[in-house]
Amino acid sequence: MLKGKKIVLGITGSIAAYKAALLVRLLVKEGAEVQVIMTPSAKEFITPLTLSTLSGRAVLSEFFHSESGAWNSHVELGLWADAMIVAPATAATIGKMAGGIADNLLVTTYLSMKAPVLVAPAMDLDMYAHPSTQRNLDILRSYGNHIIEPAEGELASHLKGKGRMEEPQNIVERLRELFFVKGPLAGKKILVTAGPTYEKIDPVRFIGNYSSGKMGFAIAHECARAGAEVTLVAGPVALPTPHASIKRVDVESARQMHAASSEAFRACDAAILCAAVADYRPSQQADKKIKRTDENMTIELEANPDIAASLGAVKREGQLLAGFALETNDALSNARLKLKKKNLDFIVLNSLEDKGAGFAVDTNKVTIIDDSGATEYPLKSKAAVARDIVAHLARLFMMLVLLFAPLTIEAQELNATVSLNTSKVQGTNTEVFTVLKDALTEFINNRRWTEYTYEEYERIACNFTFVVDGYSDDGSFTCSLMVQGSRPVFGSTYSSTLFKYEDKGIKFTYQPYDRLEFNEDNLDNNLTAVIAFYAYLIIGLDMDSMGELGGSEFLNRALNIANNAQNLGDSGWRAGSSNNNRYTVIDDYMNGAMEPLRRLYYKYHRLGLDTMFKDAEAGRKVITECMTMLQEAYNNRPLAYITKLFTEYKQDEFVNLYSFEGGAAEKQGVVKILSEINPSQSDAWDRILRTR
Ligand code: PMT
Repeated sequence: MLKGKKIVLGITGSIAAYKAALLVRLLVKEGAEVQVIMTPSAKEFITPLTLSTLSGRAVLSEFFHSESGAWNSHVELGLWADAMIVAPATAATIGKMAGGIADNLLVTTYLSMKAPVLVAPAMDLDMYAHPSTQRNLDILRSYGNHIIEPAEGELASHLKGKGRMEEPQNIVERLRELFFVKGPLAGKKILVTAGPTYEKIDPVRFIGNYSSGKMGFAIAHECARAGAEVTLVAGPVALPTPHASIKRVDVESARQMHAASSEAFRACDAAILCAAVADYRPSQQADKKIKRTDENMTIELEANPDIAASLGAVKREGQLLAGFALETNDALSNARLKLKKKNLDFIVLNSLEDKGAGFAVDTNKVTIIDDSGATEYPLKSKAAVARDIVAHLARLFMMLVLLFAPLTIEAQELNATVSLNTSKVQGTNTEVFTVLKDALTEFINNRRWTEYTYEEYERIACNFTFVVDGYSDDGSFTCSLMVQGSRPVFGSTYSSTLFKYEDKGIKFTYQPYDRLEFNEDNLDNNLTAVIAFYAYLIIGLDMDSMGELGGSEFLNRALNIANNAQNLGDSGWRAGSSNNNRYTVIDDYMNGAMEPLRRLYYKYHRLGLDTMFKDAEAGRKVITECMTMLQEAYNNRPLAYITKLFTEYKQDEFVNLYSFEGGAAEKQGVVKILSEINPSQSDAWDRILRTR
């Protein structure tokens, strides 16, 4: 999955720098190209020679090459990279990144970085816990950077606590997830315009308006968070670029905005035009400051291009175009007129008659209008309004997919990505791994696990990531398996995780070109039994999410496999051997005590998440109600592992759902339940409470 990816690895002066060598090796082994940048103090802990040998590239550290005087271009590195990892990241470097203190090559490269950034802190426990460090990490999070929380354990100071840099294997895993995780706008290119335009009268005066750019920047931010590649054409505003991956083009006049937008739109899938563009500009622009006289003065104005209308005129099939309407009277009818006249797919109406809406404020009150009708939203933060707009856009993209999709396709149920990480078993013949990966992909994706006919777009996305812990030439394997299944959220391209679990110590034998056989009633192959178990479990949970307890047939099949596999010599099947193995996971799901959790699957996904894309507030309320069902399942069996597991794989979703939405009492109620079930994720739950 990392093959061909270009990674900038920033190393800072921490005792954990020695782990960077393994990190480079793992990345290179996965096929990534790695460019190491070291801060001067990092060189006290590990030599550049070690890292350049492992990465196959000269390590960069200074702004200029000492002998040739050549400039090490951080700008080019920012454009070159697919991702940047800062590991280990000291408190000092985190502070500099948060504050934009560009006094070394690592930080200047970070500031120029167009790609996602992962930060793996390493420091003493008190430094890590200090409010200053935590505030800086929050700032990095708000820039869209991914913080890889340090682990707990013995630190260089011999104290025990949180501060150890995460293990290189796990950092690589996070990187893989980053490339795999798809937001609702993943793969889409979106143009956003924002801010006012200034139309020059003379060198010191202009015609402009009160737009601050806040609304447009919030939309650009939300599109980037949703996985889109965003070009932000910004008029003169005093706002920082809201997300590291956004390409920003600064302009001043309407004509400049027109040129930049027309250029960008050609390559885009959609545009959201939020800028307050001046409709007129002075016909003449004086070279010198116009002097005051006692006479009245008239400025002749001529029409500026209508950017929205000109993009509407060249819009291709499949491209989507959205505009804004800022009205002071007859709001709805004027907005509808603009929707038609400019050939828009939807228009976002905001009216200056509404208190707290429009220019400069941090809130807005909008109505989204398209051919199917008008949806009015309450007053919200501009960030929340941006989320509603992105959800609407994602829904329209989904409808386009459905429109162009063939009606019925004979498709199997699972759409799995299989990967095999073999970094732990070196020096062995790699053919077996390639062949096994292909065989597994074929086995999982081409087999019909049910009698139902699935549409192509209904196939369940899942990941089977094997880490080969041991292999010998007689074909015997010991593996860990990270298995994850997710379901699409109706009306968007966002996927919600249904199940994610790490299964350790799986033993099986495989020789190249062995056929992978599976017979549910006569299990004789541990590998295919494990795969079939998870296939049925994921299908069952997917069906539970579609209709209340709808997946019983498939969950029962998974239970059947667990019962019949007791003699396959794998402790993961053994009843009662642990509260965290395959047998207990399925036994828990099928136990009446856990029924509230299974009922929750339907309510949470079908009535909660699916609704959110039409009405975020209503959907979230349903999800909050689901917390009571989770609590009920937990109270029924506090030691059952699956309630805890559920909170783990839904953790990011919960944080996203509640961080910026919901009242204080609602958040506290949710966090109380989550903290009781899973106190080990207290950092995440605190994040829900910390944000406004
Ligand atoms: O920037 P903020 O302070 O956060 O304020 C946000 C906002 C009020 C500016 C924003 O929410 C908004 O309403 N933007 C559109 C303002 C506007 O120019 O509306 P309009 O009704 O005049 O234009 C209709 C649409 O045509 C808009 O999408 C506009 O971008 C576009 N347009 C207008 C004129 C023109 N010459 N070219 C255009 O493309």
